Amino acid sequence: DWTMGAFRAEEIARIRAKVGGGRVVCGLSGGVDSSVAAVLLHEAIGDQLTCIFVDHGLLRGGEAEQVVSTFRDRFNIKLVHRDASDLFLGALAGVTDPELKRKTIGRLFIEVFEEEQAKIGGADFLAQGTLYPDVIESVSATGGPSVTIKSHHNVGGLPEGMRMRLVEPLRELFKDEVRALGRELGVPEAIVGRHPFPGPGLAIRIPGEVTPERVAILQKADAIFLEEIRAAGLYDAIWQAFVVLLPVRTVGVMGDGRTYEQACALRAVTGVDGMTADVYPFDVAFLSRVANRIVNEVRGINRVTYDVTSKPPGTIEWE
Ligand code: XMP
Repeated sequence: DWTMGAFRAEEIARIRAKVGGGRVVCGLSGGVDSSVAAVLLHEAIGDQLTCIFVDHGLLRGGEAEQVVSTFRDRFNIKLVHRDASDLFLGALAGVTDPELKRKTIGRLFIEVFEEEQAKIGGADFLAQGTLYPDVIESVSATGGPSVTIKSHHNVGGLPEGMRMRLVEPLRELFKDEVRALGRELGVPEAIVGRHPFPGPGLAIRIPGEVTPERVAILQKADAIFLEEIRAAGLYDAIWQAFVVLLPVRTVGVMGDGRTYEQACALRAVTGVDGMTADVYPFDVAFLSRVANRIVNEVRGINRVTYDVTSKPPGTIEWE
């Protein structure tokens, strides 16, 4: 007879018992897990919690503002919003290797997080939105021979040198349970039902060099794709959907002129855990509508393709 309401009450009691009068910092990314963890912690310990949102400038358009308005204005959570876009984009200049992008972003993320944490006078506990599958994955990742295909920087615990105790209120839950708990806590559906989004953000959806211009172009195209997916009522049937900006220029025609601009790929997959994925079977009319909108509305893109590779053998992301 286990319900989310009971879990909520138990977990709040557990957090209070563990934290006592201590201070807790929690990294907020705008994703489901850290959002639900933050709201749960806030309910348990109120202003003993400070959330730190390191904004790397590689989120979807409008999401940084949404994080701030949701957590600061709606939930009244103490929130540090550090806009570090320039820092991250500066460090990514000239970087084209996917793993080097991840490492660069991961390293800076920790640096900036530590800086902000020092500014608020430190804390006794670090809260993380670690889920049960993350716990299993990191055990199996260190417990035996395995092939690391991509390094994920959002899992893996405390950075070296951070001497804080960990609070992981979601570590017994699966993703669908986290969503249920989020709804129970009144976290807005736009966050609770959100598709997973990778820690390195749009940087790994821009093969080749990440520049501010290319990020801006990708954000516009991506917003159109997601707007059409929502309008067609397909968002919840899809595991992840996004646009990849390709480092390829192609010839096109617009009006009576020739264009020579970048191509992009749409990616949309179904699945339950990201380990395997099938291509979402859009009809061609839908794809054409998205393509027409992107080419007409986004300067810098003149060709749209649809990625029809399943996983395996493909991966969900292009990098
Ligand atoms: P792939 O591309 O490996 O992705 O099929 C599987 C799932 O993992 C996400 N992903 C990442 N998440 N940091 C993250 O936090 C990363 O570096 C990263 N790379 C991939 C991807 O979005 C998908 O959900």
